[in-house]
Amino acid sequence: MTATREALTAAARECCGQSHSPYSGVHVGAAVRSASGVVYRGTNVENASYPLGNCAEMSAIAAGVQAEGAQFRIAEIAVWATDHDDRVLAASPCGGCRQRINELAVDGRVNVHFPWQGGQMRTATVEELLPFAFFLPPSRREK
Ligand code: THU
Repeated sequence: MTATREALTAAARECCGQSHSPYSGVHVGAAVRSASGVVYRGTNVENASYPLGNCAEMSAIAAGVQAEGAQFRIAEIAVWATDHDDRVLAASPCGGCRQRINELAVDGRVNVHFPWQGGQMRTATVEELLPFAFFLPPSRREK
């Protein structure tokens, strides 16, 4: 693993331990390195009204936006997930989180690290995870 991948994965893993996931038993942590070099963490927070739960990636992105405001951009992101027995789960970001990451990624080459089959870390770019991504037309984007 590269140094940044290792450090980000360690941060995601640590935050995974904070998960509030009594319904699924799936604990997820995410760590984002912003373009300005700061690492933000997030975990999944479930709710008895199931659709109200949120993903770890979303929490980490929210932490980044709260700290850096509209300038916040994702340079790299790592995810980690375990089950209730602390076994590592294969967990690439869900479709919704791919869209969220893409929206604030520096560009399509931003690396996303995640545990895959056999507990091996895999890396893919945002563009590989979300080809033909949806964007608003330029006229609707904030200048
Ligand atoms: N989850 C995430 O935190 N990130 C993803 O990208 C996929 C799913 C969470 C949501 C829910 O709390 C649990 O994993 C099981 O779906």
